[in-house]
Amino acid sequence: MSGCKLVSFVLILHLLNSFLISCSSNELSQIPKNLLSLAKRDEFFDWMVGIRRTIHENPELGYEEVETSKLVRAELKKMGVSNYKYPVAVTGVIGYVGTGQAPFVALRADMDALPMQEMVEWEHMSKVPGKMHACGHDAHTTMLLGAAKLLKEHEDELQGTVVLVFQPAEEGGAGAKKIVEAGVLDNVEAIFGLHVSNLLGLGQLSSREGLLMAGSGRFEAKISGKGGHAALPQFAIDPVLAASNVIQSLQQLVSREADPLDSQVVTVAKFEGSDAFNVIPDFVTIGGTFRALSPKSFAQIKQRIEQVITTQASVSKCNATVDFLEDVFPPFPPTVNNKDLHPFYKSIAVDMLGAESFIETQPVMVSEDFAFYQEAIPGHFSFVGMQNKNHPPMPNPHSPYFEVNEEILPYGASLLASLATRYLLESSSLPNKSYMKDEL
Ligand SMILES: *[C@@H]1O[C@H](CO)[C@@H](O)[C@H](O)[C@H]1NC(C)=O
Ligand SMILES: *[C@@H]1O[C@H](CO)[C@@H](O)[C@H](O)[C@H]1NC(C)=O
Ligand SMILES: [Zn+2]
Ligand SMILES: [Zn+2]
Repeated sequence: MSGCKLVSFVLILHLLNSFLISCSSNELSQIPKNLLSLAKRDEFFDWMVGIRRTIHENPELGYEEVETSKLVRAELKKMGVSNYKYPVAVTGVIGYVGTGQAPFVALRADMDALPMQEMVEWEHMSKVPGKMHACGHDAHTTMLLGAAKLLKEHEDELQGTVVLVFQPAEEGGAGAKKIVEAGVLDNVEAIFGLHVSNLLGLGQLSSREGLLMAGSGRFEAKISGKGGHAALPQFAIDPVLAASNVIQSLQQLVSREADPLDSQVVTVAKFEGSDAFNVIPDFVTIGGTFRALSPKSFAQIKQRIEQVITTQASVSKCNATVDFLEDVFPPFPPTVNNKDLHPFYKSIAVDMLGAESFIETQPVMVSEDFAFYQEAIPGHFSFVGMQNKNHPPMPNPHSPYFEVNEEILPYGASLLASLATRYLLESSSLPNKSYMKDEL
């Protein structure tokens, strides 16, 4: 085929494609609104609230989501989704709705709770001492089950397959990384995930193109001196003072070495010394987290954390070892939204709730293991608001007073279902995209 013929052939494909889309664009734009009203049906809403409360009462930590994933599988079966894989990544469940054929699009929910005591006194508070769903993952799991049910009700309209990812261990355990490594997303074209937000109003959606959340890592250091009597410091080498100097020095990394326009965080959150008031301990353990918006800054600050701890400890005649705990807590890369998926997401958000309900956000320094999906395939992450006048200002995630406004459940469920449905419709109405890319 000559160059000229090729160009006109491709042009015809483009025209055909815009024709297909414009014919059905009215119907397409109704999908998010329709799915939202379906998710708001009383019976559907009550079903979701029941699931969320059951999960909330029975929180399980990362890779221990045995009962939660059992509930997920039972609900999938009840709604007729019998095609699923379990276990994936220890306790994960991967479900399939649709034609069973390409294209594939994935929706993700995290299932794990946090090791902390719930302080909210309510009928459905955590029944497990020292464990709590304080990040809303009970709501995320429920929303994905809700989306699955909406999709199942309209399975004959799906132009491809939706892969439902119920992942374990988001809170540090990098369950997403294990899901990717399990190979279950190999043919998936795109993945969507969301997080509840106490800062946005009910039904507000927020995201941005590109960088959304920071990369994060952990460190732990053992600073060793020589223990002794607190009244006789001359015979001891005090690791408490050494550790204090280390912490002071660590705080100069961001203020003095980082570009002020390239946000970074170093926080020492853990400090363990002697149990006694009058004993200088042999060693002190400190631990913390660091965040950065780019892999380059992340690597730099990580290297400097180690250097500062070991050299500053030696100033006080102590020895220090630093452990980044990467085997147990793989560092999370920055969460970066695919630039083609963002306008797509935004069109769904606007069709669902109107332009005024979508908020383009600034990047934030929290992090998400959703980033592991985005390293493997195009992905998009967003926030769904739950604040309304029935609720006083709501505490941040990871607070023992964290609460979920359950009115958010239909928004999350229908958003996920809309993203998948529209993605498949728009993807399959395109003449084979990779073919066009290859030829051009
Ligand atoms: C630090 O390590 C050196 C070399 O192993 C050792 O000689 C010294 O006693 C250690 N100091 C402390 C305070 O542990
Ligand atoms: C698109 O075309 C490529 C190359 O011809 C093929 O490998 C791929 O499976 C096709 N994808 C779909 C979704 O049909
Ligand atoms: Zn969290
Ligand atoms: Zn979370």
